[in-house]
Amino acid sequence: MKALILAGGTGSRLRPITYSMAKQLVPVANKPVIEYGIESIAEAGIKDFGIIVGDTGPAVEKAVGDGSRWGINITYIPQDAPLGLAHAVKTAQPFLGDDDFIMYLGDNLIKSSVVTLVTEFQAYRPAATILLTPVPNPSDFGVAELENDRVARLEEKPKNPRSNLALVGVYLFDRRIHDSIAVLKPSPRGEYEITDAIQGLIDTKLDVRSHIVEGWWKDTGTVDAMLEANRLILEDIYARNEGEVDAASKIEGRVKIGAGAVIKNSIVRGPAVIGANCRIENSFVGPFTALAENTTLTGTEIENSIVMGDCTIEHTPSRLANCLIGRGASIKREQGMPKTMQLVLGDSSSVVMP
Ligand code: G1P
Repeated sequence: MKALILAGGTGSRLRPITYSMAKQLVPVANKPVIEYGIESIAEAGIKDFGIIVGDTGPAVEKAVGDGSRWGINITYIPQDAPLGLAHAVKTAQPFLGDDDFIMYLGDNLIKSSVVTLVTEFQAYRPAATILLTPVPNPSDFGVAELENDRVARLEEKPKNPRSNLALVGVYLFDRRIHDSIAVLKPSPRGEYEITDAIQGLIDTKLDVRSHIVEGWWKDTGTVDAMLEANRLILEDIYARNEGEVDAASKIEGRVKIGAGAVIKNSIVRGPAVIGANCRIENSFVGPFTALAENTTLTGTEIENSIVMGDCTIEHTPSRLANCLIGRGASIKREQGMPKTMQLVLGDSSSVVMP
């Protein structure tokens, strides 16, 4: 079995972060979101990975590499236009050949193992296995309708969903999916939908199995979902201190502190992760915060946030919460007069003031 990871797409709902960064590389608990899926699939013993990339291909390739750190081989496959998930599979056909494959959407977060899915697929040999999870907003996803545990119908982003079971971005297929993709027509949003290709399998009476999963999957397409994914991963971290914490500081709960990090006269309340070479002084870092490397906090309170590397945050007038802060950002309080706010924001930025 091979793995096909999809890492194209524009990430429009994560702007401005995605103007300078692939959405699959946004760090969740200080690790690019795409790596959780790669690790989980590599644990299932799969060695041959194809990663479909678009405009952000070079950045994805630079960050993820050739796979040797996980003992896998990665082939990067450029997709000439973002024409949908089924189009991505078609693009990857020369790489996939006639092999079975697990497909994983690189902006989805898989927290647990896919081993049982893979062994079950190999034992039962269905044409496809899909994963489903109940969601409060099914219209934002592909939705499945089950009849006595069988998948009766799938619909992509339905206005009137027939169930609350959303398609999770992890699929297993054998070669028959290519036949179904070959006869697909574009959907109303102009894409070749994998949901429609799976419906094609159902229409030709092929076996499509489903699994209902709870709690371990997150589509990280929006800021709120990204912060939730961060919380989900931080829930399970272990405490480790490779940095320096002075006697005036308090580390409460599970906090992972990277090498070279220095914490002075501050409170860090876990679960939280502090990257290598961060400097935290006279500050409070609250639960569910991930500060990536080389970030400096001075006289600042922050919680439930993702701060990417090389940021400087000083003397903010109130506690920062629910923030997604891109690399190299600087947030400072003006000490002198006049008491104005100066904002230098990228396109589609958002600021919420107390
Ligand atoms: C895609 C699929 C959809 C699935 C979702 C999971 O949606 O088309 O069926 O439920 O991923 O993340 P998209 O991210 O393209 O909107």
